[in-house]
Amino acid sequence: MNVPKHVAIILDGNGRWAKAKGMPRNYGHAQGSKNVERICEEAWRMGIKYLTVYAFSTENWNRPDDEVNALMKLLRNYMKTCLKTAAKNDMKVRVIGDITRLDEDIQKRILELEEATKNNSGLNFQIAINYGSRDEMVRAIRKLAKDCIDGKVNPEEIEEQTFEQYLDTKGIPDPDLMIRTSGELRLSNYLLWQLAYTEFYFTDVPWPDFSKEELEKAIEQYNHRDRRYGGVKEEEEQNV
Ligand code: IPE
Ligand code: IPE
Ligand code: MG
Repeated sequence: MNVPKHVAIILDGNGRWAKAKGMPRNYGHAQGSKNVERICEEAWRMGIKYLTVYAFSTENWNRPDDEVNALMKLLRNYMKTCLKTAAKNDMKVRVIGDITRLDEDIQKRILELEEATKNNSGLNFQIAINYGSRDEMVRAIRKLAKDCIDGKVNPEEIEEQTFEQYLDTKGIPDPDLMIRTSGELRLSNYLLWQLAYTEFYFTDVPWPDFSKEELEKAIEQYNHRDRRYGGVKEEEEQNV
């Protein structure tokens, strides 16, 4: 079995999952966050080295205040729990996205969590919070343009690799497999640059029900994919 090195997940469907059970949407978010912990452990056990999850998008601020507040409260608590699990599982945590829009205490917890886990050698776990791919690219371009003006970068010498150094995902390999739960077939502003050659897997299973078995199914399907990167399969090369 060829296990993808980096799996990116759009954890979707918490609200609908809760509603189907006659529960408030926020109950779905709470269960969803517990599932993140479970999947982190399973992913590492399966040999996945990098896991990136979409927790809150730049567009999620458009939700009703009550839901945004509940999500922020959950994130606040999650950072604390994550500090413990990361210590237990030797996980290295990094947050991607523009955290400056978050409450100061959450920002502080994020920085503490990143600092406390930076030398860990287990799963590389990225959490996308107030993340939007277009926003990430615009922020990157701003920094790059500033470095050009300051004479640190010659515009003529900008390569794809140069640009990547300015993204939040700097140093993290591109995802091999992208999973979206709960039946939506779109990217919702997730990792647009980084997913250029990633294999996609969509499932109707809502995130709180996405189990170890579901992850195994996704990896099994990934194994049947033929990643050509614009080239041709080796066995086809003679048939030109
Ligand atoms: C994903 O679940 C979690 C977040 C976006 C924060 P949703 O809240 O999007 O759940 P649905 O898609 O409305 O069911
Ligand atoms: C994408 O899910 C964002 C996260 C999972 C955090 P959404 O539920 O917000 O996406 P749309 O609105 O259905 O595209
Ligand atoms: Mg959704």
